[in-house]
Amino acid sequence: MPKNNRTFAMIKPDAIENGHIGAILEKINKSGFKIIALKLTQLSRRDAKLFYDIHKEKPFFNELVNFITRGPIVAIILEKSNAVSDFRTLIGSTNPVEAGEGTIRKLYATSVGENAIHGSDSDENSIIECNFHFSKREIF
Ligand code: RTP
Ligand code: MG
Repeated sequence: MPKNNRTFAMIKPDAIENGHIGAILEKINKSGFKIIALKLTQLSRRDAKLFYDIHKEKPFFNELVNFITRGPIVAIILEKSNAVSDFRTLIGSTNPVEAGEGTIRKLYATSVGENAIHGSDSDENSIIECNFHFSKREIF
């Protein structure tokens, strides 16, 4: 299978509430990612449960759905060679305490639950997540 050069990113409600959209987008661009699609939107509980379906048995699932639906998110498709793995490196570990210096989560996340940004974890999930959030005519 050819390696995908796109990844799905989502700026989460905590980062938007704290005024970090501009700083995060600047960091993404400066790290060599091209923005292919972008929109400010809000997930319904149904959407959130589908998007995070893989975590439905986890103890934090309800908390996660409450958090991700409590305000707007920025949905983004990014392009770069090795987009998925390079973007995971840029965002850092799930828990900001463990995230490396200079990563988006180290800079802008507040806790393991409210961690500022999402990045696809595989090429396969990147395609699923991009198609979940965007129709063909919204992708440039
Ligand atoms: P994401 O999917 O959002 O990019 O995050 P991730 O891969 O680094 O982490 P994942 O294991 O997929 O978890 C998804 C999101 O669930 C929330 N979470 N809360 N309270 C908790 O212990 C806990 N653990 C995970 C986070 O918002 C995490 O990003
Ligand atoms: Mg994940």
